[in-house]
Amino acid sequence: MPIISPSVLSCDFANVQRDIEMINQSEADWFHIDVMDGVFVPNISFGFPVLKAITKHATKTIDVHLMIVNPDQYVEEFANAGADILTVHYEACTHLHRTIQLIKSHGMKAGVALNPHTNVEVLNNVIEDLDLVLIMSVNPGFGGQKFIQNAINKVAQTKLLIEQTGSKAIIEVDGGVNLETGKQLVDAGASALVAGSFVFRSSNPSETISKLKGL
Ligand code: DX5
Ligand code: ZN
Repeated sequence: MPIISPSVLSCDFANVQRDIEMINQSEADWFHIDVMDGVFVPNISFGFPVLKAITKHATKTIDVHLMIVNPDQYVEEFANAGADILTVHYEACTHLHRTIQLIKSHGMKAGVALNPHTNVEVLNNVIEDLDLVLIMSVNPGFGGQKFIQNAINKVAQTKLLIEQTGSKAIIEVDGGVNLETGKQLVDAGASALVAGSFVFRSSNPSETISKLKGL
C-alpha cells in the first residue's frame, strides 16, 4: 500500500483547519506542503505563518516540498516550523550535497525533487545520502495539471538506482496523480503518492484518499 500525501495546496484556505482535520481522520499518511517563492516557480503559495497554522493541527508526518531558490537559508526555520521531511529541488541547489547534510543535521529526513526534464542520473553521487526522491510528474508551480507520462520511466530508473546502490531512499511522485496514474506509478516502484486536486475536488475527499491507499 502506498504512502498517501494529500497536497494541502488544493485545500480550501478559508477552512484550513476543517481540511486538516479531514486528513487527520483519513487513511492518509502524510501532509504534503508546497512552498513556492515566485522565483524558482512562477507562483507564490504560502510561507511560515500558514505552515505553522497547519502543523499546529496536523497529527501526521509533515512532508514539505520546497520550490524555492537558496533553500539553505531557511532549513533551520522549516525544522522549527515542524517539517519532518524537507525536499529541495535539484535544479535550485548549487551545492546539493551540503544542503542534504544541512537538512539531516536539523533532524529532518532529506529529499531531492527532480523536474520533468532532469535526468535521474544526476542523483548518482548523492543517492546513498537521501531518504526520499521526489519525481515531478508535472512542471512544479500549480495544482491541477496534466500528468506527464514519462514520469513512469523515471520512477523505474530511480528504483534501479536505489537497488544498485543499496540506498534507503523511497520514491515519491507529485503531480496529476489519480487512481489511473497512481496505479502505474506504484507498479513502477513508487511508494509515496502526492495528490492535490484529485482529492480536494472530489465529492468525498476522505473516500478518495482511501481509494488511493488501496492501490
Ligand atoms: C505542484 C505541486 C504539487 C501539486 C499537486 O507544483 O508540487 O504538490 O499540489 O497537485 P495535483 O495533484 O493537483 O497535480
Ligand atoms: Zn508538491
